[in-house]
Amino acid sequence: MLRTHTCGEITEKSTGKKVVLAGWVQSSRDHGGVIFIDLRDRYGITQIVCDPSHDKTVHAMSSKLGREYVIRAHGKVRGRPEGMTNPKLSTGMIEVLVDKLEVLSESETPPFEIDDRAEVSEELRLKYRYLDLRRPVMRHHLEVRHRAAQAARKYFSGLGFLEIETPMLVKSTPEGARDYVVPSRVHPGKFYALPQSPQLYKQILQVAGMDRYFQIARCLRDEDLRADRQPEHTQIDVEMSFVTRDDLFETFEGLMKSIFKEAADMDIKIPFQRLSHREAMEKYGTDKPDLRYSLGLTDVTEIVSDSDFDVFRKVIQGGGIVKCINPKGELTRNEIDDLIKFCQGHGAKGMAWMRVTEKGLESNIAKFFSESTRKKLIDAVGAEPNSTIMFIADKESRANDVLDRLRQELARRLKLLPENQYKFCWVTDFPLFEWNEDEQRWEPCHHMFTMPHPEDVAFLEKYPGKVRCSQYDLVLNGIELGSGSIRITDPKIQEAVMNVIGIGQDEARKRFGFLLDAFRYGVPPHGGIGLGFDRIVAMMLGFSDIREVIAFPRNKAAENPMDDSPSDIEDRQLKELHLKFDMLKK
Ligand code: AMO
Ligand code: AMP
Repeated sequence: MLRTHTCGEITEKSTGKKVVLAGWVQSSRDHGGVIFIDLRDRYGITQIVCDPSHDKTVHAMSSKLGREYVIRAHGKVRGRPEGMTNPKLSTGMIEVLVDKLEVLSESETPPFEIDDRAEVSEELRLKYRYLDLRRPVMRHHLEVRHRAAQAARKYFSGLGFLEIETPMLVKSTPEGARDYVVPSRVHPGKFYALPQSPQLYKQILQVAGMDRYFQIARCLRDEDLRADRQPEHTQIDVEMSFVTRDDLFETFEGLMKSIFKEAADMDIKIPFQRLSHREAMEKYGTDKPDLRYSLGLTDVTEIVSDSDFDVFRKVIQGGGIVKCINPKGELTRNEIDDLIKFCQGHGAKGMAWMRVTEKGLESNIAKFFSESTRKKLIDAVGAEPNSTIMFIADKESRANDVLDRLRQELARRLKLLPENQYKFCWVTDFPLFEWNEDEQRWEPCHHMFTMPHPEDVAFLEKYPGKVRCSQYDLVLNGIELGSGSIRITDPKIQEAVMNVIGIGQDEARKRFGFLLDAFRYGVPPHGGIGLGFDRIVAMMLGFSDIREVIAFPRNKAAENPMDDSPSDIEDRQLKELHLKFDMLKK
């Protein structure tokens, strides 16, 4: 090694020892002719001293060093004089008096300071990611990520799982996003897809008898980006044979416990709470409820159906619902008006409200509700005096959506979010299909290989919306961390499901005939999950933006400002790939 120690490990115990350090110049200060340099590497910072009375050449060299130069320093460890120590730093009691200095590499002036406190724009951070990653916090994020990956590997290996890689150039996997495609040079006009997940391959591995599979898998999806979505993300991908749902939950809960313990030294409670999709939608208006606070929703459609309030009556007559939320604590008129605007901003036509007082319900609309209806409302909601009942009347999906957002907004405003609390839950028994309003057709809620509940199979043909399935999502503090299911292994059921989605036999054969073929040769019952690894690590560190835990993420336009991808390719390459553009070049 070019060094004897790192910049983070020398303490008073080494006083008097000769050491060689190498690293980056964090800063340099001239104190009356003596130059003090903070030398940084991945492990920390050590102060080195270039004193002209000790060595003139060293001192002369040190006066020419700029920020982020890479240097190597030979010297002797000594205690810092009194008043110069820094107990906050592990190396804060010592310094190294330099005998010999070498410049290994010069640096241009960096576009921003390597300092956790520096405010730097996202674009600049991504363009100069190698500088951004020198910051101690970013190094910490990557360390935690590394530990989380190692914990997962250790956990699975201990349980007899095999880590198996699946191909990156594949046939399109139907996960519901757009594919990234790669043209084939050898087969003109043909394309590979990059995997949206290893779904089909891990299922085929079950047919192959690999009854405990896992992979830390890259998944690529061409979809609209958000803080918790990247075009390339990583999943802890798992599949098991001959298991019940409870076996799977137990395995994944154990995994989460190990990861949180080993990567972040956090003890999380298992087993996780479970609630059905229906319960989640009724009580929280969402399939990813944040359970750190209660603040549940109540459907009061029936109670208010005979009121004189036109707004409610019309919505109910049109097949909609009236649902409410009941935050505690007094709200001012201004605050309520603000929340009305908030709801309207999220698609509500309005938001009706009533104050709960010792005497009963009060507001400008209270008069439209009979005494007995008001009493029933209070009872149904369990409302206490000094609280407010807020109503949204709309079609069910919109009412739920608005109330979910209102619930989160109220939690923020009323400071109901405890810090450092991790509330996991399993949301189970999803519907198998959801209705796509734009395309006027049924789509799988998860993917089309998810097993419907046996008792609901009879509804497949006539009432697809009623069919529940084995899908389960793992949710943490309102964020979906993972999704999985028990898979369909019965060809008849698979065919019925594809019929509902509108995929005929021929199309099925074309798209994933290889999976259906494999299933003809003895397929074990199996199930699994894909856990969003970036999201797990981000949540562990308290971030909602997964870019904080990815070494080289992309910006919102799916570009990487550092390597400038996506970029043009040469005409020669286009020709080799038999591609021609059908667009005007700028
Ligand atoms: P699903 O599509 O639900 O399931 O993905 C599983 C988990 O992966 C994470 N995730 C993402 N993270 C960051 N950026 C993205 N663009 C992104 N997309 C998904 C989420 C999500 O819960 N093959 C199935 C799993 C299975 O059935 O076993 C699958 O991929 O945390
Ligand atoms: P309007 O009749 O539009 O003046 O509305 C009367 C009250 O009902 C106002 O407080 C509105 O905010 C509220 N309101 C209007 N539409 C809805 C709705 N769809 N759900 C709940 N409240 C509503």
